[in-house]
Amino acid sequence: MYVCVCHGVTEDDVRDHVTAGACSAKDVRAACGMRPGCGSCVNRICALIKEQRPEVASAA
Ligand code: FES
Repeated sequence: MYVCVCHGVTEDDVRDHVTAGACSAKDVRAACGMRPGCGSCVNRICALIKEQRPEVASAA
């Protein structure tokens, strides 16, 4: 399922980058090569990070 339709980033893409060490939406966006877009995906990216890494207090 797509998380970011502006850049074609999927939930699996986000999970792969979180597994590789990304711990914030900024980290994920950089790892995916995402440029500025509409920003509507940020909350979903943060939710995925918190699901996978609940120890991360603030995923933004
Ligand atoms: S949906 Fe991700 S920047 Fe628009």
